[in-house]
Amino acid sequence: MSESDLPVPSIPNARDAVRALRPSQIREVANAGFGVADVLPFWFGESDRVTPAFIRDAASASLAAGATFYTHNLGIAPLRAALAGYVSELHGATSAEHIAVTSAGVNALMLAAQLVVGAGDRVVAVTPLWPNLVEIPKILGAHVETVALGYGERGWQLDLEQLLAALTPGTKMLLINSPNNPTGWVMSRDEQRAVLAHCRRHGIWIVADEVYERLYYADAKPGAAAAPSRTAPSFLDLASRDERVICVNSFSKAWLMTGWRLGWIVAPASLMDDLGKLVEYNTSCAPAFVQQAGIAAVEQGERFTQELVRDLKASRDHLVRALAAVPGVDVKVPPGAMYLFFSMPGASRSLELCKAMVRDVGLGVAPGSAFGPQGEGFVRWCYACDTARLDAGVERLKRFLSQPATAQ
Ligand SMILES: Cc1ncc(COP(=O)(O)O)c(C=O)c1O
Repeated sequence: MSESDLPVPSIPNARDAVRALRPSQIREVANAGFGVADVLPFWFGESDRVTPAFIRDAASASLAAGATFYTHNLGIAPLRAALAGYVSELHGATSAEHIAVTSAGVNALMLAAQLVVGAGDRVVAVTPLWPNLVEIPKILGAHVETVALGYGERGWQLDLEQLLAALTPGTKMLLINSPNNPTGWVMSRDEQRAVLAHCRRHGIWIVADEVYERLYYADAKPGAAAAPSRTAPSFLDLASRDERVICVNSFSKAWLMTGWRLGWIVAPASLMDDLGKLVEYNTSCAPAFVQQAGIAAVEQGERFTQELVRDLKASRDHLVRALAAVPGVDVKVPPGAMYLFFSMPGASRSLELCKAMVRDVGLGVAPGSAFGPQGEGFVRWCYACDTARLDAGVERLKRFLSQPATAQ
């Protein structure tokens, strides 16, 4: 038999669970902007500022000293110790044996899911939500059910009873992201308490994505002596370190280190050996010089983070004021993260609207539908930049809305 007689193989495809993953609608909008000169991008979740110099210098010094080798799967000991100190200060006693260093938050989410869920498991997620959280368990064959936040006069709110009802016995994992991307919603301490008690009763794992915990803008009550809190309410404030709670965090947001790919997990010590195996088979470790930069961030970065939060709050308030003055825009002041998630004329078809805005006026914002069907009707604007840039964006929005053929 010659080679030409062999049957032609069918077209190779990825497995069904992977083919069924949702492609990123933010990317779809960005692609529509290719070829458009002078796009103002507010669509991604990162600041337009570079990582602070003291962190970049620490990485350079570490590279110069030859930190080019593999490290321990769970991270270098000094970084785990530094993170244990940082977490202890913010959320109560936490030892290094409860900390694992990861290759950023998204890898931490994948590792957490790999630790806990398998094919056929039921997972519940509170939405609208950054799509990665919902898609990751599906890669593992789990079923994800969603509980939607409601939108009203007070902005985005959780219906606690609805969430508890969805957390049926047999549910494997709850995914909560607070402060939330895209809405800026922050879960209250009382809501966390009720959810933790319920999950304890039913043996449900809580995976808390707290990568925006430092981007929290609650004001101290007028006349109150207490300073504003340095973090949003965290499950770590309530849970013991050795129960079914896995907390995911990242260097991307509090220290502007998106491109470095560094994060961490706080989890029961009983998981760490297995987590080490998963790290080995995913990435083996985070780069050594990046971990050294992480030590600088944690040990010397507090002032930087507090100034960043102050600047972000000013940008948030500036953009809320500017957008609130645009006819047809409904915008609320979110208590956390770095996005405004607002409605505007045409947003009931948010993907088409965002593509039209980037094409017609070079304004790049993310469609609400990218964050699940519950996000339809809204658009997301990342305000992590200076106010002049925000003003330029708002001018483009006004120009778009004054066009005769605006998608309404
Ligand atoms: C809710 C949420 N979780 C996790 C991440 C992961 O961030 P990174 O992988 O850069 O640490 C992001 C990034 O935007 C996010 O919005």
